[in-house]
Amino acid sequence: IKTIGVLTSGGDAPGMNAAIRAVVRRSISKGLNVKGIYKGYNGLLNEEIVDLSARDVSDTISRGGTILYTARCSEFRTAEGQQRGAEVCRKHGIDGLVVIGGDGSFAGAQKLAALGINTIGVPGTIDLDIACTEYTIGFDTAVNTAMQAIDKVRDTSTSHERCSIIEVMGRNAGYIALWCGIANGAEDILLPEKYDYDEQKLINNIISNRKRGKKHHIIINAEGIGHSTSMARRIEAATGVETRATILGHMQRGGSPTCKDRVYASMMGAYAVDLLADGKSDRVVGYKDGEYTDFDIDEALAMHKSVSEYQFEVSRALSI
Ligand code: F6P
Repeated sequence: IKTIGVLTSGGDAPGMNAAIRAVVRRSISKGLNVKGIYKGYNGLLNEEIVDLSARDVSDTISRGGTILYTARCSEFRTAEGQQRGAEVCRKHGIDGLVVIGGDGSFAGAQKLAALGINTIGVPGTIDLDIACTEYTIGFDTAVNTAMQAIDKVRDTSTSHERCSIIEVMGRNAGYIALWCGIANGAEDILLPEKYDYDEQKLINNIISNRKRGKKHHIIINAEGIGHSTSMARRIEAATGVETRATILGHMQRGGSPTCKDRVYASMMGAYAVDLLADGKSDRVVGYKDGEYTDFDIDEALAMHKSVSEYQFEVSRALSI
């Protein structure tokens, strides 16, 4: 391996810059060249590729977003797009590629590896929904951002003695919702994984909490369930309790990464370079049982994980 390329793909996540910085500096420390590819697989196909030096990543570790920009690329889902991606890598002398993103991005990495480009995936998504790893870059910052926002909604909710439905991101996964539900002491948590959604049960719970003297009723609703605004209207009509919906949206993806995200991103970025330097390809970096580790991409993409039953059960017990 002589030259490593790095790109970020899919939704941005705080800590991606720390991972890029680690890829660049770990590569340079091993005597390798590094090229940055802008805008994910789109930039690869359009050859938006630049040389990166150690100084190019100065002052980036604390910045949210991704300095390489990111995109979702439909063309890269086609065999022609993947073939062209591999050709562009060869043309620019990129013989190892680090892809920072989620499962969708790893599917692209898997195809490039099959076409002879040594490729490693680094898990970067706020959703925590990559099965082979207990940690994904951006989750910690996103849940802290959401938690702080929900604390603020709770202040006004209590003052008005309202019910508040707060919708958090996570696509089809409920990790952000469950973590915020516990951290914010929510009365109800609606998760896509536990979708036996019974609105009457929710309504009864709001009414009985009110009778037991609760001043607010916080419902954390996962994006995978959605429809928070219409849900609020129905709940208000059925309970007589004023109800508002707040959709936190993309603010959850921004901001300076937490210490945890910076450290895990730095370690995972460096680990990806180490794998390539050791001649490995077609792997995804993960964190399991207290260690940084790696998995075959096919195996990683075939794995499944779900929210913890125990965590959910405890969250219910603590919401009385
Ligand atoms: O995967 C990260 C994520 O923020 C999800 O939580 C959300 O469903 C999605 O991306 C939103 O994507 P976009 O920024 O394209 O609207």
